[in-house]
Amino acid sequence: MKRISILGSTGSIGTQALDVINDCENYEVVALTANNNIDLLEKQIKKFNPKIVGVGNEEKARLLRERLDNNKVDIISGIEGLISAATINCADIVLNSVVGMVGLVPTLEAIKSKKTIALANKETLVAGGEIVTRLAKEKQVQIIPVDSEHSAIFQCLTSGKKEEIFKLILTASGGPFRGKNSKDLENVSLEDALAHPNWVMGKKISVDSATLMNKGLEVIEAKWLFDIDIEKIDVLVHPESIIHSMVEYIDGSVIGQLAIHDMRIPIQYALSYPKRKFNFLNRLDLAEIGKLTFEKPDNKTFPCLTLAIQSSTIGGTMPAVLNAANEMVVNMFLQKRIMFKDIPKLIENVMNSHNVLYDPTLEDILQSDMWSRKQVQKLVELK
Ligand SMILES: NC(=O)c1ccc[n+]([C@@H]2O[C@H](COP(=O)([O-])OP(=O)(O)OC[C@H]3O[C@@H](n4cnc5c(N)ncnc54)[C@H](OP(=O)(O)O)[C@@H]3O)[C@@H](O)[C@H]2O)c1
Repeated sequence: MKRISILGSTGSIGTQALDVINDCENYEVVALTANNNIDLLEKQIKKFNPKIVGVGNEEKARLLRERLDNNKVDIISGIEGLISAATINCADIVLNSVVGMVGLVPTLEAIKSKKTIALANKETLVAGGEIVTRLAKEKQVQIIPVDSEHSAIFQCLTSGKKEEIFKLILTASGGPFRGKNSKDLENVSLEDALAHPNWVMGKKISVDSATLMNKGLEVIEAKWLFDIDIEKIDVLVHPESIIHSMVEYIDGSVIGQLAIHDMRIPIQYALSYPKRKFNFLNRLDLAEIGKLTFEKPDNKTFPCLTLAIQSSTIGGTMPAVLNAANEMVVNMFLQKRIMFKDIPKLIENVMNSHNVLYDPTLEDILQSDMWSRKQVQKLVELK
């Protein structure tokens, strides 16, 4: 029996993780958290009986306490709720599937409590990769990737030794605007940006996929997860999303992981690792698919990928600044306050005015994050 705490249980990854858990007898849910969606959280509590529940929004936490008056569950609000769920004594695994930088501190706390981490929350590694991986090494805590690309690489890495890796090849669907040029992107709508061709995901990651920032964040995530130079990580557009990523070894052999595009596969692998478990999901039928295609990413039309890689090459607090600026502009785009084409321009502008701190502490990262958000706010107000 594995005992699991899920941070962000009401989101796209969180709900799919509960589907996986529901279909398998070997898991017990010990903690759940959400931010606002207490209707769904209430249903999840009734079904999975966690010992504690975290609710980010204080007012929603109060409402949920009222609704569950007679229930034995402990409801903790604010960031404390996330931290309590991340450190709960009885959990073996913490699945971090919250969206955004809010996941960083709970990840660090879970590592300090020696929990195995199943990590979907890529912003954690983008902003704080250096301190997260250092602490995980020190505490001998394993971080198992949930992101499909990183799960693929994690699986392909069993085919060789670290010194035998030539490069990692992260595949990318190309998002809803693949094949368009800068002019075409001038007036695209929010609805167009959210319409991902292959995956149904949360709104933030959907917009990140449309700008290709998601792939940039994933390159940084891969650098930290697999302790590999950023120059050894390539991005390859593969619109069918069947090969989830590959590892090329020094002898020219390329090992890839293939599956249908269903996040329940990498989620299940992260939870059941090091074992594999049978499931009833659709099977990959390559004859039915017929052909797989590949192309280079269009860095000119989608500058966010280059910005992310640049931020990582610069290092220090720059990736945290890129991440925070991106979270802010994506939110503003979701609120229809800015246009799609403004996204990379605003991020680049903020990066250009940042004084980087190297070998950052958690405090430096949190301060840089705040600074970046304020810069975006100022730039948008000036427009
Ligand atoms: N979706 C995918 O297929 C996919 C694939 C690979 C990686 N990822 C990564 O996984 C993470 C989650 O993505 P998602 O698509 O599942 O996002 P999502 O659907 O937006 O869900 C986010 C979850 O985080 C909670 N949350 C949001 N803000 C919070 C806050 N301030 N405090 C506490 N909880 C908060 C949400 O609660 P409410 O529901 O109450 O708002 C929800 O449970 C992201 O880092 C994403 O990049 C996602």
